[in-house]
Amino acid sequence: MVNIARELQPSAQASITAGARIEIANVSHHFAQPGGASLPVLDHVSLQVRPGEFVALLGPSGCGKSTLLRLVAGLEPPAHGQITQDGQPIERPDPSRIVVFQDPTLFPWRTVRDNVALGLQARKVPKDQHARVDEALALVGLSEFAASYPHQLSGGMAQRAALARALVNEPQLLILDEPLGKLDSLTRLSMQGELLKLWQRAGFSVLLVTHDVEEALFLADRVVVFSPRPARTVKELAVDLPHPRHRTQPRFVELRQQALHHLGLDEVA
Ligand SMILES: Nc1ncnc2c1ncn2[C@@H]1O[C@H](COP(=O)(O)OP(=O)(O)O)[C@@H](O)[C@H]1O
Ligand SMILES: [Mg+2]
Repeated sequence: MVNIARELQPSAQASITAGARIEIANVSHHFAQPGGASLPVLDHVSLQVRPGEFVALLGPSGCGKSTLLRLVAGLEPPAHGQITQDGQPIERPDPSRIVVFQDPTLFPWRTVRDNVALGLQARKVPKDQHARVDEALALVGLSEFAASYPHQLSGGMAQRAALARALVNEPQLLILDEPLGKLDSLTRLSMQGELLKLWQRAGFSVLLVTHDVEEALFLADRVVVFSPRPARTVKELAVDLPHPRHRTQPRFVELRQQALHHLGLDEVA
């Protein structure tokens, strides 16, 4: 596996940006259903992400996690409550907040490099500033595959290309919706390590949704557990362990039990 720290070029460190402060204040949301009924999805959710903090969200499938991420991304306004970034209301998508989904959604007819450059092209950043593309590819360890096409990549490499496409925009907040969810378990473990290194170097804030309790505890400063739909905050767990963390550490095991307990899964804890 490529060691990002070793591969990092000095120029890549120049793209370090400050992390966003996100404030989710008393947010409730619902969707209209056929026949006029309303489906409540978020129930008075309040949550903060401090600048540079890594926050993971855990909750049962369908509870409203992706909906909350969409609201933070600015793709939809919340029905009630407010979401701000560094004190400013979030009202529309912005390149300072980038979402990476489970599916890397690369364009098959574009090379890796051209896929990563997409955000810069869309924002009409002049071509001579595209050195950032190479920096982002170096950060995720894909420099050698810049000229490859998506079908020539493994699942983990495709997801790294999707991360590079996000990083090229120098985000202040990375919004990750189960980004490693489709990878095999070994690739997933090594990608968790790589994601951690990226975050430690880049300084952006992260809001990660995962269904993997250990992944949340391995990566995050804070883990927020949600109830079944409509999502309510059940518990916030501060992960008071320095990096690198080990899944067998007594405190790690203890936090895992607590998280599973708050998810209502005591029988597997
Ligand atoms: N655009 C939408 N219109 C109607 N219902 C939606 C929409 N998006 C999500 N939902 C519903 O909201 C609930 C929460 O969905 P979601 O936020 O995707 O959950 P999670 O990510 O926690 O699995 C689900 O019942 C889902 O069917
Ligand atoms: Mg989801």
